[in-house]
Amino acid sequence: MKNRIFILIGPPGAGKGTQAKNMASLKDFVLISTGDLLRENVGKKTELGNTAKSYMDKGELVPTDLVARMIKANIEQNIGKNGFLFDGFPRDLAQNTLLSDMLEEFNLDIDKVIYIDVKDEVIFERLTNRRICPKCKRVYHMRYNPPKNDELCDDCKVSLIVRDDDKIDVIKKRLEVYHKLTQPLVDYYEESGKITKINGERAPKEVEAEIIANM
Ligand code: AP5
Repeated sequence: MKNRIFILIGPPGAGKGTQAKNMASLKDFVLISTGDLLRENVGKKTELGNTAKSYMDKGELVPTDLVARMIKANIEQNIGKNGFLFDGFPRDLAQNTLLSDMLEEFNLDIDKVIYIDVKDEVIFERLTNRRICPKCKRVYHMRYNPPKNDELCDDCKVSLIVRDDDKIDVIKKRLEVYHKLTQPLVDYYEESGKITKINGERAPKEVEAEIIANM
């Protein structure tokens, strides 16, 4: 079956990025991660990136029209492939309507939503200990998934960095935004019967196994 549409949703630090690459490669889906696409634009200092950065650094959502352009271009480029896995989009009910409208143009609909559930206390511990390789973007956790050698990427051997939005105040704001805007979308998906809730407070391999069993 072609053009299947999967969504990965959950609070900041739930492990979406950790799981998304595997999920996409397993199903041969095109992975669309809005956070990664926005950070790529920030890194390249594009007009979109410069505007997005001012919102991301405060833990707020980037205006939907900016995100929508990136998503639409990606869908158009990849239509006809096995399917899409969206990580970090839609983020609220308005973005869900936007995605539904875009999919309708291609006679498509959302097949499944995978919700990774993690409590706020756990999220703080995860995000304050997260490190990223600036080159290959590999994600580490200094306790649960540390690099082999000090704070260097195992693959690129460059120094790991802390994401700009992983500061305590920004994490708090991101969680506030999640509860206010994204949680109602999770509730909506629950009513639609398309959501599978996964307990994200287990080892990454256990979370991965349950996701795969439900894909
Ligand atoms: P985005 O990049 O999407 O950030 P997020 O949703 O806040 O999620 P994170 O990337 O922080 O966490 P994650 O769930 O991927 O966790 P990870 O796997 O890294 O968005 C960033 C910003 O961009 C937003 O704030 C907004 O400004 C903007 N944006 C993005 N999309 C947008 C949209 N659609 N509309 C508007 N604005 C948008 O894991 C976290 C840590 O935990 C890591 O250290 C990892 O190693 C560790 N870990 C993972 N799994 C486990 C586990 N099972 N056990 C223990 N540790 C684990």
